[in-house]
Amino acid sequence: MASSTFVLMLLLSLTPFSFSDQIQETFHVCLSNILNPNTFFTPNDTDFINILDSTAINLRFRTRSTPKPEVIFTPLNETHIQAAVICAKKLGIHLRFRSGGHDYEGASYTSIMNDSFVVIDLSKMRGVDVNTMDSSVWVEAGATLGELYYRVQEKSKTLAVAAGMYTSLGAGGHVTGGGYGSMMRKYGLAADNALDARIINSNGEILDRASMGEDLFWAIRGGGGGSYGVIVSWKLRLVPVPSIATIFNVEKTLQQNATKILHKWQQVGPTLDENLFVRVFIRPSKTSSTTNKTVSTTYQAHFLGEANKVMEIMNTGFPELGLKKQDCLEMSWLKSVMILSGYPSTAPPSDLLTGKPTFLNYFKAKADFVKEVIPETGLEGMWKTMLEAENSPFLIWNPYGGMMSRIPEPSIPFPHRNVLFKIQYVATWMDDEKEIMNKHVDGINKLYKYMTRYVSMSPRQAYVNYRDFDLGMNNKNGSYEEVSSWGRMYFKDNFKRLVEIKTRFDPDNFFRHEQSIPILSA
Ligand SMILES: Cc1cc2nc3c(=O)[nH]c(=O)nc-3n(C[C@H](O)[C@H](O)[C@H](O)COP(=O)(O)OP(=O)(O)OC[C@H]3O[C@@H](n4cnc5c(N)ncnc54)[C@H](O)[C@@H]3O)c2cc1C
Ligand SMILES: *[C@@H]1O[C@H](CO)[C@@H](O)[C@H](O)[C@H]1NC(C)=O
Ligand SMILES: *[C@@H]1O[C@H](CO)[C@@H](O)[C@H](O)[C@H]1NC(C)=O
Ligand SMILES: *[C@@H]1O[C@H](CO)[C@@H](O)[C@H](O)[C@H]1NC(C)=O
Ligand SMILES: *[C@@H]1O[C@H](CO)[C@@H](O)[C@H](O)[C@H]1NC(C)=O
Ligand SMILES: *[C@@H]1O[C@H](CO)[C@@H](O)[C@H](O)[C@H]1NC(C)=O
Ligand SMILES: *[C@@H]1O[C@H](CO)[C@@H](O)[C@H](O)[C@H]1NC(C)=O
Repeated sequence: MASSTFVLMLLLSLTPFSFSDQIQETFHVCLSNILNPNTFFTPNDTDFINILDSTAINLRFRTRSTPKPEVIFTPLNETHIQAAVICAKKLGIHLRFRSGGHDYEGASYTSIMNDSFVVIDLSKMRGVDVNTMDSSVWVEAGATLGELYYRVQEKSKTLAVAAGMYTSLGAGGHVTGGGYGSMMRKYGLAADNALDARIINSNGEILDRASMGEDLFWAIRGGGGGSYGVIVSWKLRLVPVPSIATIFNVEKTLQQNATKILHKWQQVGPTLDENLFVRVFIRPSKTSSTTNKTVSTTYQAHFLGEANKVMEIMNTGFPELGLKKQDCLEMSWLKSVMILSGYPSTAPPSDLLTGKPTFLNYFKAKADFVKEVIPETGLEGMWKTMLEAENSPFLIWNPYGGMMSRIPEPSIPFPHRNVLFKIQYVATWMDDEKEIMNKHVDGINKLYKYMTRYVSMSPRQAYVNYRDFDLGMNNKNGSYEEVSSWGRMYFKDNFKRLVEIKTRFDPDNFFRHEQSIPILSA
């Protein structure tokens, strides 16, 4: 006994095996029965960084100093995910799950709370199975929304899915965080339209809606990714769309009455026809005639119908914008979605099948919800704050109302129902330099602070799919009270039920990250 311990110690002291090597080795051995070629990558593999970066959308988490996984495993089917969960649990390995990689804080592919972790990347599981007979679709977690939209429209030009506006988002993470798009005023969120799901729990069992039960099925429809299990696929409702959609962009600067028009938009944006979604991009810019700085407000619209009809709606409901017929572009629904996502108008729909993002940058974002119209003086202070900042963020204001306000708050975990609109603050930059990042972060923080008196409070609401670590994080000594402050910002009163369900279904807190739903004893 004593001598074998001695030999073991000698071996350990002689072999330069690090902790990482051990995880790579033991995980590899444990998976060996199901392992396929090109599905298990360690930092020693030449492909490792390419695979890691392939869907790491925020360049802020692609830097050399960003903590990297010990292993990236890319399962090809459900059995492989089950094996990964069972092995990781047995071996005490901390897992992260990635579908489309758009997490704002990189929680799907890096970790602050555990410096040793493994990424289960679902990018090879992207099947889409459309059923026009019962108007539903099964989509695997790793499929992008662009692929999903393409496959549905391939079967029918008048069916679609109500989900996000950016076509590279992954179905897995997006739907479980809520998932809004330009049809939310008519049909609600992606999570509102989820009919079923397949999920793997911490015992490695596969559950569907019937076997997981209505509590867990409630929690995963908006409670955010990485808390309850691995979502393998979603069954989503198909919704009717016309074969022709219309888009327009109209820009107004401060000199062109932007203040008055935005004041009016706050009142009509949430009440216009539900087929019409008019959002506003707000950014500091230069006027065309001088070098004076101004703020530009660009009204970007998506209408489910033809140009004549949208002209009628706008002339009656929002004439202040001065929309002209020549501003309106009619096209197929799929094409309109591509343009809103940033594709050039010449890009063929088949480009959606590449699943690639239309842009990449370093970014930091925050969110707010507005319940009362911001007065003109409030907007003027906002312009001032934006123009004074060395690096101002830009803003995206999305109108709510319609179906969004008809769904009761407890219906799914996403609680932001009775609001006029959502504000997203976005700071982007292109250099990996701390100083540059700090200036942008400073700009976004100042504007977020300025807006405090105009936005929702107690709690100040936030959107879990716009993950923001400034709001707080899980940590080993974090009390329940601390955790519940950001939990309530994302989920309001639904947070309590999320914690209760988490405690029941994952009592060991196996599925966790910096902002996963905590268990009650935390
Ligand atoms: C450019 C851009 C545009 C966006 N546009 C919109 C928009 O129009 N509408 C909108 O609602 N949101 C939008 N978002 C936010 C987006 O919905 C969220 O970032 C969403 O979480 C992305 O899902 P994903 O699978 O791509 O991300 P991932 O980074 O893969 O995952 C996000 C989170 O879910 C977890 N997760 C991932 N896969 C699984 C799985 N299979 N099972 C369980 N947990 C999992 C991860 O651990 C992570 O915490 C946008 C984001 C970006 C960067
Ligand atoms: C997944 O693939 C493995 C081979 O790697 C196979 O043994 C298993 O049956 C497959 N599972 C499913 C659900 O197709
Ligand atoms: C990876 O490479 C390092 C040296 O670059 C080596 O020490 C280590 O043993 C290798 N690990 C594996 C699992 O091959
Ligand atoms: C990292 O995760 C593993 C597996 O869950 C756990 O055993 C370990 O304590 C964690 N380490 C830290 C620092 O949290
Ligand atoms: C701004 O609004 C006023 C009335 O409120 C109007 O007289 C003026 O023409 C508008 N200016 C522009 C550039 O639209
Ligand atoms: C530009 O700014 C200067 C100084 O603020 C001001 O005097 C001038 O009128 C501005 N020009 C225009 C076209 O707005
Ligand atoms: C406790 O939390 C604080 C604040 O997040 C952190 O600074 C500290 O390191 C934590 N201590 C331990 C022992 O985890």
